[in-house]
Amino acid sequence: MNRDLLTIYDLTPGEIEVILNKAKELKEMHLQGELYHPLEGKTLAMIFEKPSTRTRVSFEVGMHQLGGHALFLNRQDTQLGRGETIADTARVLSRYVDGIMVRTFSQERVEEMARFASVPVINGLSDLLHPCQILSDIFTIWEKRGEYRGLKVAYVGDGNNVANSWINGALRLGFDLWLACPPGFEPRQEIVARALREASSRIVLIHDAKEAVEGAHVINTDVWASMGQEGEHQERIKAFQGYQVNADLVRWARDDVLVMHCLPAHRGEEITDEVMDGPHSVVFDQAENRLHVQKAILTHLMGERRKDEAER
Ligand code: CP
Ligand code: NVA
Repeated sequence: MNRDLLTIYDLTPGEIEVILNKAKELKEMHLQGELYHPLEGKTLAMIFEKPSTRTRVSFEVGMHQLGGHALFLNRQDTQLGRGETIADTARVLSRYVDGIMVRTFSQERVEEMARFASVPVINGLSDLLHPCQILSDIFTIWEKRGEYRGLKVAYVGDGNNVANSWINGALRLGFDLWLACPPGFEPRQEIVARALREASSRIVLIHDAKEAVEGAHVINTDVWASMGQEGEHQERIKAFQGYQVNADLVRWARDDVLVMHCLPAHRGEEITDEVMDGPHSVVFDQAENRLHVQKAILTHLMGERRKDEAER
């Protein structure tokens, strides 16, 4: 078993199923007020080199609810901000904590952290991927529809970290994924190429948003300018005209379509208020499920043996 979660590909379909079932169980226990402390005495270090609301709070609250402790570490208040290497940071933190969650820019930085850490490392978002988000989103679809295989999931907008992880999820779990991105803003080429080569389901990349959402069970979108791309915001707004998830677009999907957004949203850009606050939207359930799914991920990776013990 892989002790890190850097990409959805680190999990087998069977492991994903275990995590989803565990998340369901943990959510029910939490709603019933049942205490469960399998991570008592354990600490998760959370390194944030980019801002966060949901990821930070859901991991911190999740560790607390599992009986453990979470440490928030940002770049400027640690020696990372003064040039200490990721490798040395990973080696030092591994002497103190039982797991590391990292949100940063390059995926290589996340991978370097995992290479030098002797405890599990979890990717809390990189420029390339956002695996915890998409695992939670798949849980939300499963919770609402009882299945994810055989569904048509549409993604409309920027071919960013969230889109890349949706492709990984579709390839791992075998649901149909139709992505509509403006020319020049497609998902990462090697991720698309692998998906097209290996997929057992339909993974389709087009430019027409209507075609992507036609008959869809789920519509997803995300911001047009991700963290770190603020300087391109105005130019992107122009390029993304025709890719807004609004009432006209939603009408092309099934009557019972679920509209999803990982949040934070730029209301009035990639999604209208009407849709985000409308009957199809599940965005706040989606945000809540980050907590339950990440608790399942934490127990899966940190629950039994530490990575270095498992390797002995
Ligand atoms: N969806 C998500 O990861 O949100 P944050 O940036 O607030 O963590
Ligand atoms: N694509 C967005 C996701 C935020 C959760 C970003 O990287 O800013």
